[in-house]
Amino acid sequence: MRTAICATYGIEMPVFAFSHSPRVVAAVSKAGGFGVLGASGMEPEELDRALQMIERECAGKPYGIDMIIPDNYVGSESGGLDLASLQKHIPQGHRDFLERLLDAYHVPQLPPTGETLTSRAGVGISLKRGSELVDIALSYPVKLIVNALGVPPAFIIEKAHRQNIRVGALVGAVKHALHQRDAGVDLIIAQGFEAGGHTGEIASMVLTPQVVDAVAPVPVLCAGGVASGRQLAAALALGAQGAWTGSIWLTTEEAETHPVAKEKFLRATSSATLRSRSSTGKPARQLRSAWTDAWEDPANPEPLPMPLQTLLSVDAKRRIEVDAAHGGEGGKQLINYFVGQSVGMLNAVRPAADVLRALNDECDATLQRIIS
Ligand SMILES: Cc1cc2nc3c(=O)[nH]c(=O)nc-3n(C[C@H](O)[C@H](O)[C@H](O)COP(=O)(O)O)c2cc1C
Repeated sequence: MRTAICATYGIEMPVFAFSHSPRVVAAVSKAGGFGVLGASGMEPEELDRALQMIERECAGKPYGIDMIIPDNYVGSESGGLDLASLQKHIPQGHRDFLERLLDAYHVPQLPPTGETLTSRAGVGISLKRGSELVDIALSYPVKLIVNALGVPPAFIIEKAHRQNIRVGALVGAVKHALHQRDAGVDLIIAQGFEAGGHTGEIASMVLTPQVVDAVAPVPVLCAGGVASGRQLAAALALGAQGAWTGSIWLTTEEAETHPVAKEKFLRATSSATLRSRSSTGKPARQLRSAWTDAWEDPANPEPLPMPLQTLLSVDAKRRIEVDAAHGGEGGKQLINYFVGQSVGMLNAVRPAADVLRALNDECDATLQRIIS
């Protein structure tokens, strides 16, 4: 199954796979798709290590990175505040509320185990951090740099273009797509309401054809809800040159998804998600859990703006993850993670390459069925 974008990016199938797990990215690129590593929330050394591994595994196959440099966040006017300054913006009432919440669910304080954090919500979201990550990425033969939540800064677009690296951006509305096109972005990812992570309010079915028409001839990928070959075929029918996917990789063998979250995803229906500000401060689709319920309750404080909500919750989320991993009931009830409405279609753990092939083969069969 090939579209024009396959020739542009040197891939065999028009499927872009966003993942925070380097092994998923490598597996997808190796198998003929385009893996994109979610770098926001990574420390620079961590990104460097991940790219070394991907580069080694991919042996010349194309891959990219994704970062989050939002248009608006607390401290954006100065390129991002340091952690100490950000801490001062967090009201004590919010800290007390979180302590009470974790106490109510009997989530213990962290043992000094050094277990790694899997919440990639990104305390490090800022222009400064984004630029550091881009500089590391540019020292590898990446083929694409993508930004979410805003227009990539001009100097980043220029740097990438000087090295013949394309720049992409996620959008949730036509007007944002036009801003991206005008800024010189090479690939627009139209992300619908049903997607996992930060989303707007327009569904993929409605958003994609409008964005395709608005930015033509700039290529568009359809993001949000693509978890099968039939949906990939639908994305192509809407005028997209391919699909940009996230949720389907969370339950693959290679994914570093927390095992309790993975289990929840495998059992969840498509009604089990909501858009909530409770993890990052901006509306992001995620699995409903006791965590999101608590933040939705009008009796409790409202989530803080980005990046304060992440900063406030990062330790609490880590405590929850560790408790859940040790079988704690409270941790299991509270734990959640970003995932889209397609979670209802994620019913088995499979290697990423098999997931990719199944998407491709079902898309082929669907297109044959439609035209015959
Ligand atoms: C766990 C998870 C984390 C995400 N984090 C980011 C991110 O850091 N940057 C980004 O551009 N998109 C992020 N997204 C959105 C994806 O890039 C993608 O657009 C979305 O998952 C597509 O919709 P789908 O989940 O229905 O496949 C995330 C999605 C998920 C599921």
